[in-house]
Amino acid sequence: MNAPKHSAFADTAEEAIAAQDAAAAAADFADGMTSEQATEVAMQNTLLTPRFYTTDFDEMDSIDVTPVRSDWDKLIAQMKSDPNKGHFKKNDDWQVDWEGMDPALRKEFIDFLISSCTAEFSGCVLYKEMKRRGSNEDITTLFQLMARDEARHAGFINDTLREAGIRVNLGFLTQKKKYTYFRPKFIYYATYLSEKIGYARYITIFRHLEKHPEHRFHPIFQWFREWCNDEFSHGEAFALLLKTDPKLTSGVNKLWIKFFLTAVYSTMWVRDHQRPLFHDALGVDVTWYGQEVFRKTSEISKQVFPFTLDIDHPRWQANLNKMEAASRQIAAAKARGGIEGTVSRLAGMAKAATAFVSTLLIPSIPNEVPESPRMEPAY
Ligand SMILES: [Fe+2]
Ligand SMILES: [Fe+2]
Repeated sequence: MNAPKHSAFADTAEEAIAAQDAAAAAADFADGMTSEQATEVAMQNTLLTPRFYTTDFDEMDSIDVTPVRSDWDKLIAQMKSDPNKGHFKKNDDWQVDWEGMDPALRKEFIDFLISSCTAEFSGCVLYKEMKRRGSNEDITTLFQLMARDEARHAGFINDTLREAGIRVNLGFLTQKKKYTYFRPKFIYYATYLSEKIGYARYITIFRHLEKHPEHRFHPIFQWFREWCNDEFSHGEAFALLLKTDPKLTSGVNKLWIKFFLTAVYSTMWVRDHQRPLFHDALGVDVTWYGQEVFRKTSEISKQVFPFTLDIDHPRWQANLNKMEAASRQIAAAKARGGIEGTVSRLAGMAKAATAFVSTLLIPSIPNEVPESPRMEPAY
């Protein structure tokens, strides 16, 4: 049997996953409990944790990319050329001091890594399944290429966790984590947004640390620039898929787009505010960071969405903060338990729902969508 390649050099998702499994088997960690706990965290399905998705693969397989053919072929050629082959490999810049890290920061950082690894792997699982089930060559080619990238990303983060003695069991997750069903159009909105917001998040941290290298408390952030270009390409692919059918971005679907934009932005806001030490260590004001990521994502999304959210509206941040406070109330109530806990939890959920609806009702800003959506990563 040939030894599997390093996941960074894998050409397919299958190879990358095999490489991760082999590396995991080779590493003998005494800290088994921690890995189990990490996998448990990754298994959680709440409003705030990354989910695994399934969809109507036959409907997705029937997409005809003819209306966007020339942009499509260019994008696929670029992804096939694989500019980041070999990027996800450590070099001499990789100097980690897990022991020297403040334990509370370490906890938040590990939580960030587990959540990121799960999100990356969620993309891998969905894309790989589409590739496996499909027969439309345009679609299977794209999804194979995206699955390859996401497997590398998840593998790289898992490798980082392994150095701290923790491993998220990706094989176990694939089999046991609950899958959420989304109709294909919802997959397009949600995945387009998560790819573009992923790009905006990675590049914003990278650019910030370029200016403030003293805050780079772990080497993984140095890998973010090339990394986020993969996410940018994935987002481009979904922009083209959305462009194949004008109905996807008009009529009642505009309401769905607004719903997804609001849900994705507010989830990110709430989740990031739960990691104050992590953002302090990066020297990043978490409110500034959130707004900056929304601004970049909104600007990019003008390529395909007929409006953007008004993130400078007076009710915007106020409502996000209410959702964040409600989520803290819900968590505390759950921990307390009993009747009092239940009452407080329900009250928290009502508060969060009210703030969410109020955010949804903020008038959006109309946008003239360009003929060709293609963009280059410019941040
Ligand atoms: Fe990724
Ligand atoms: Fe991606």
